[in-house]
This record gives sequence, C-alpha cells and structure tokens, in this order.
Amino acid sequence: MIRFLTSGESHGPGLTGIIEGLPAGLELTSDALARDMVRRKMGYGRGGRMAIETDAVRFVAGVRKGRTLGGPVTVWIENRDFKNWEGIMGAEPGTSAGEAVPQREVFVPRPGHADLVGGIKFGHQDLRNVLERASARETATRVALGAIARAYLALFGVTVLSVVRSIGTISWAGPSEDAWADPETLRQQTLDSEVFCPDAKSAALMVEEIRAAKKAGDTLGGIFEVRALGLPVGLGSYVQWDQRLDGKLAQALLSVQAIKGVEIGLGFEASRLPGSKVHDPILPGGEGGPLRPSNGSGGLEGGVTNGLPLVVRAAMKPIATLYTPLPSVDIRTGETAPATVERSDICAVPAASVVGEAMVCLVLAQAFSEKIGGDSVEEVLAHFGESRRLARERTRWGGGQ
Ligand SMILES: Cc1cc2nc3c(=O)[nH]c(=O)nc-3n(C[C@H](O)[C@H](O)[C@H](O)COP(=O)(O)O)c2cc1C
Repeated sequence: MIRFLTSGESHGPGLTGIIEGLPAGLELTSDALARDMVRRKMGYGRGGRMAIETDAVRFVAGVRKGRTLGGPVTVWIENRDFKNWEGIMGAEPGTSAGEAVPQREVFVPRPGHADLVGGIKFGHQDLRNVLERASARETATRVALGAIARAYLALFGVTVLSVVRSIGTISWAGPSEDAWADPETLRQQTLDSEVFCPDAKSAALMVEEIRAAKKAGDTLGGIFEVRALGLPVGLGSYVQWDQRLDGKLAQALLSVQAIKGVEIGLGFEASRLPGSKVHDPILPGGEGGPLRPSNGSGGLEGGVTNGLPLVVRAAMKPIATLYTPLPSVDIRTGETAPATVERSDICAVPAASVVGEAMVCLVLAQAFSEKIGGDSVEEVLAHFGESRRLARERTRWGGGQ
C-alpha cells in the first residue's frame, strides 16, 4: 500500500517527502519530476518567492541508478531562500538574526490563514511558528511525490492532466471532449497560457481580473478541473466508507491549502437535474465491454472507477494574505491591527491545479497498489495483465463465461 508524508517549513533549510510502497524497478529520475515542479511555480499572479526557488528535486533514499529499490523513496527540495532566513529559522538554540536584521516575528494573524487557530492550538505567540508549516510552500513536496506517483501510474497507461476553469468571476466551459482525448496537445496549450486556461479569450480576461485584484490589494480564487484517462474498472470500493475512491479523492483535494469544494462528474449540477439527464446509460458494447454514451458520473459509480475518464473539479478560495489587509488583532495587546502582510501570491489557482493533479495521482497510485499489489514492476505488470483479462471475461455477456 502506497503512503506518503511531507515535512519542512517555508523558510527552513528545505522540504522532505517520503513515499513508501512503490515496487522495485520503477524508472525514476529527478528530470522526470522537473516538469511538474516547474509548472507549480508558474501562473500569472504568483509572488516573488517563485523566482528565488529552483525546486530541483534530489532523491536521498530509495533510488539507485535511476530505479526504485523497493524501500521508501525520500526526496529533498532545498529552500534557496533559507540563506536569507538562517538567523531567523535556524534549528539550534541561540539562533539569532542579529540586532540589525528584522526578526520577522508575526503577532497579528491573517484572517483565512492558519495563524490564529495554530497559535491557540500549539501555544505559539510568535505566529511565524504556525505559518512556516501551514504555508503552501509544502505543496512543492506534494508535487514531487505526485510526480513519482505519476511515473507509477504510467505503468498502467494512466494519464492525469488539468485545466483552470475559472478565476474570480471569469469562467469558461472547459475543453471539448475531443480536446481532452488528445492530452498531449491540451497539456501544451494549457502550459502556453499564463493562467493554465487553454481558451485564449477567457485567459486574457482572467489575467485582467488578477491585475485588477493586485491593484486593489486584493486576491482571487477559482476552480480547476483534473481528469485521469485510461483507468480500468474496479479501483476503489463501495464496501466500506473509507474505501470509496470518491471520498478519498475529495479528502485529498480538500487537504490542499485553500481548497474549499470538490465536485465529481456533474457534481452540484446533478442535484438540479432529473435522473434521466444525470445517469449514464449502459449499452451492450463491442470489444472493450459495455458502452457508456455519457459521463455524468465523472468515472465513478459506487465509489468505484467505471472505466470512463475520472473528472474532478476543485474550488480554491482567494489567497488569505491581502496587501490591503483586513482588520485583525495584535495577540500581544488585544488591540485592533491590520493583518500581517507576508510576501504573497495574488492568485495561485494555476499552481493549485498542478497540486491537485499531484493529489489525484497519489490517490490513484494508492488505489492501484491496493488492487494490483506487487513488489517489483515485473510482478505489478503480471498482476495487472491478469486483472484486465478477468475484467474482459466478466463483461463478455451472453455466452462468454
Ligand atoms: C499553490 C498555493 C499557493 C498559495 N500561496 C499563498 C500565498 O502566497 N499566500 C497566502 O496567504 N496563501 C497562499 N495559499 C493559500 C494558503 O495556503 C491558504 O489560504 C491557507 O492554508 C489557509 O487555507 P485553508 O483554511 O484552506 O487551510 C496558497 C495555496 C496554494 C494551494
């Protein structure tokens, strides 16, 4: 069973991630992870930090000569900004920035961030102790681990990609089904857009809206859509609440900083439509099993994949750090004070879409490892072949069995 952990502070020495349960012999290079790491840094509306960090991933355990060994894989991502924070964030007692340098303590919590609740929960007066870990800098590690999961998913022919569907008040209908069916082209078109929205007209309006928010000292959220193509029938389960794949995906996506809503398939729209317009008819198909002429289910029925593309959307709230700050309280005095302003993004929906992909990759990788098992790539592929053979047999209706 694949599991993972992340560790590290935003301005500490670096970020660590551990992923366990991958088969031995999986091809893995830091170059293969670089594409996603770079994408996470992109998007119109990001703050200055992204220009400082290279987010190069170094394998420090579990990989030898470009292949996994079967043990935990550990990644290390250096925070290049640490050199500017060493006196403030150093681990040893007595670490000091020196008289001349601002101590960067935080005493006024930002509404919408973890500052206030974290300070109360862990008993920190300097809220830097909260925001350093609560910061979405942590998502760099998730993206690195997600890219590893993506390499594992490639064994099964699974592709995961995303687009931004809305930013602020600007939204568009999303790519056509034909466009989704050509993931490499769509991926490139998305990458060519400053806001990861392949529709040029909508993208220009989104950029304009971010620009206006920045001018007003405000921030914006939005919605992104992630799809996984090439999934087999039968990942996840309906037999226990915590084995349902819809529940796992929702949990994973909602665990991403600032994600406040998740939809699968038609999502909330399904609640407004009659059943005849929501559910996907089952027709006797050809070679590949039953034919489903529509995909309102978003690829999941009963918490189990049904072989159609997985369709998940996530809604992100606006960034909590406002350059025109909301009122807050100085926790030392109890006096009203403007919320702390920490160098920040104006809009990070494009970056969040990459993090969303990573979380979907990790959840799907867990589901595959649960269903297919296998200690080596060779074993995984043999098990998968047998699973596919059985699935084909089970849909050879009317005389096949
Ligand atoms: C990719 C990404 C980048 C983010 N960048 C910032 C940022 O620069 N400043 C900020 O205040 N919040 C940022 N956030 C959002 C905060 O992490 C989030 O508001 C905070 O965790 C509280 O949200 P929560 O209540 O959902 O945890 C970012 C989130 C993501 C996913």
